[in-house]
Amino acid sequence: MKKIICLLLVTVFFTCKENNIQKSQNSKEEQFINELLSKMTIEEKIGQTNLRGTSSRTKILPEELKEAVRKGEIGAFLNVMNIDYVDELQKIAVEESPNGIPLIFSRDVIHGFKTIFPIPLGMAASWDVEVARTSSEIAAYEASAAGIRWTFAPMLDISRDSRWGRIAESPGEDPYLASVLGKAYVEGFQGEDLSDSTKIAACAKHFIGYGAAIGGRDYNTVNMSEPLLRNVYLPPFVAALNAGSATVMTSFNEINGIPATGNEYLLKEVLREELEFDGFVVSDWNSTIEMIKHGFARNYKHVAELSAVAGMDMEMTSTSYENHLKELIKEGKVSEAQLDDFVLNILRIKYRLGLFKRPYTNRAHTGNFYAESHLKEAKKAAVKSTVLLKNENSILPLKKEAKVAVIGPLADAPHEQLGTWTFDGEKEHTVTLIDVFKESNANYRFEKGLTHSRDKSKKGFASAIKAAKQADVILFIGGEEAILSGEAHSRANINLPGVQEELINELSKLNKPLVLVIMAGRPISVSNILEKTEAILMAWHPGTMGGPALYNIIYGVEEPEGRLPVSWPKTAGQLPYFYNHKNTGRPANDHQFVGIDDIPIHAWQSSLGNDSHYLDAGFTPQFPFGYGLSYSNFKYEKLSVSKDTISFNEDVTLKVTVTNTGDRPSKDIVQLYTQDVVGSITRPVKELKRFEHVYLDAGESKEVTFTISSNDLKFVNHKLINAAEEGDFNVWVGQHALSGLKGSFYLKE
Ligand code: BGC
Repeated sequence: MKKIICLLLVTVFFTCKENNIQKSQNSKEEQFINELLSKMTIEEKIGQTNLRGTSSRTKILPEELKEAVRKGEIGAFLNVMNIDYVDELQKIAVEESPNGIPLIFSRDVIHGFKTIFPIPLGMAASWDVEVARTSSEIAAYEASAAGIRWTFAPMLDISRDSRWGRIAESPGEDPYLASVLGKAYVEGFQGEDLSDSTKIAACAKHFIGYGAAIGGRDYNTVNMSEPLLRNVYLPPFVAALNAGSATVMTSFNEINGIPATGNEYLLKEVLREELEFDGFVVSDWNSTIEMIKHGFARNYKHVAELSAVAGMDMEMTSTSYENHLKELIKEGKVSEAQLDDFVLNILRIKYRLGLFKRPYTNRAHTGNFYAESHLKEAKKAAVKSTVLLKNENSILPLKKEAKVAVIGPLADAPHEQLGTWTFDGEKEHTVTLIDVFKESNANYRFEKGLTHSRDKSKKGFASAIKAAKQADVILFIGGEEAILSGEAHSRANINLPGVQEELINELSKLNKPLVLVIMAGRPISVSNILEKTEAILMAWHPGTMGGPALYNIIYGVEEPEGRLPVSWPKTAGQLPYFYNHKNTGRPANDHQFVGIDDIPIHAWQSSLGNDSHYLDAGFTPQFPFGYGLSYSNFKYEKLSVSKDTISFNEDVTLKVTVTNTGDRPSKDIVQLYTQDVVGSITRPVKELKRFEHVYLDAGESKEVTFTISSNDLKFVNHKLINAAEEGDFNVWVGQHALSGLKGSFYLKE
């Protein structure tokens, strides 16, 4: 048995929040908001907890809305998309409401405001912190010019199930990758000084476990052990809070029987006490009142009581606080001190946003929508997030002189290319692949074949086939329309929708190389068509500049630089699938694997194979987490581990030599995984701990060095102790979760 070598109670294990502790100790801020609070009536306090939604299409500002602001009944707005209205409402709040408290204006600015970046899952495929930070910096810069000072991003829900529509918005399946990206997004949105009028408050969402919905069906129940919560789902939130995320949003799901919005343990013990969060918590859209349907609250008043006792500060769109909090306080069911805490949390963020000093929009700040520099970054992000999954006979990059038949519903689909959660990016600004072809001197012909991704009509097949017959290469741009992923858009079947597979099938009969470019919000099962393609590029929904990025990749001006942030399943039946799974008592291996057709007819009852696999889908994914090809090749050699044994306060250094063995400059992402071989609770077969982007000229080698310590090897066990444990560790340095040179060391007390 291992010994626990670093006893640390869970209540203090996330000694995060340097930022927030410092901020709370900012006495000027605390004095200001406390003085303000002392002047507020109970009605005005309740008003601060009220986040009022408006329709994006509101043409006039209703008088009753203005009156509610005048009376101090509203603390924040969602979706007021007219800068004059923003300032008009703000003026009423500042000049006419009882204590002149400014409003916050919020909006879902998820992967760009006007300039749209790849969907978050695509951004995660970049494994690039700078790209993530820049994308949210630009989003904040543009959105703030429209009066928005608070976004509902980043979404940090770990997702292990591609059926879930919101995987498109997620950072993928890995807690380490999600954490480094989460931190970068928050830094980009908020900058160093949140009061800068070009910065916006971030919102780490959805707290928590939303991505673990059973069966990948949106809003579904979540059951989760405490170690799983803390080892996999919580770390990205810890990272975002450490980076100073001003707000946190609760999730729609229940977790172990208690809806997240009414979950006192999660909101008070974990978020406030352990993580020392001092911003405010907002409920998700109607998630308070949905506690009635969950079967947790009896009525709206009970909803308000449960939410308040749980520590939920601001209610989005529904009005249980507005209608019942006063009465609950009178009855002693909720304390006024609790309401005061909510108000202080909200005022603190308003203070940090500089709203008390500068409540109005900065008209001099135009946001430079779609500025050249913004488009350049969006294009860079699209290049970095595109993953090359297959490239037989090095068909890609295409030769400039090749005759190309461009086919498929998404080659020229400016709206679809933007992906889910794009409210403000206009399709008129999208540059599609066909737009670029039109401007190029490439020898191409475009025949859509299908009008949209779900099209079931084969009317367009004949002209697509005719165009393909005349070409040297077929470029099929397919996938999913934007609306097929995102909220409430889970799928049970994750193949290409409509008759895309059939069209690919027909085209493949021409025996010409077929390059498939997928634009989709999730990994798509390609097992039926894999053999029919020569190459596959995963472009996700690549955003405004997806066309130029793809064109450059297809013709080799740039490398596809992405690596998968999720395991890519062969079929939906394998889901949930994730690389950092446990081993089971009967782990599968090639040697013992028994496929469905290997079983003799009339076989006697037997557990042939005897291990954990699917007869018809095996035990490996189609493409593993971390995977992605380049236009070059890399060799990994000479892995060295600095010490055989380290103590828990020592570092271990791992070195590997990486060589670009191809004939063009290229990039690889060198990935370090560890395995804690025996634990006081069973441990994942592999866990990502570090990665590094390495750019190498043809023939060039580089020694890549990683340093880790017992801090990186900690986990939360069944006693809720967060500690590294003495024992054997395996390490791998390689190109994805199923590859790598292997080493080991012993961690000793
Ligand atoms: C989503 C949130 C979003 C909110 C406001 C909800 O339906 O779950 O992620 O921020 O709406 O639009």
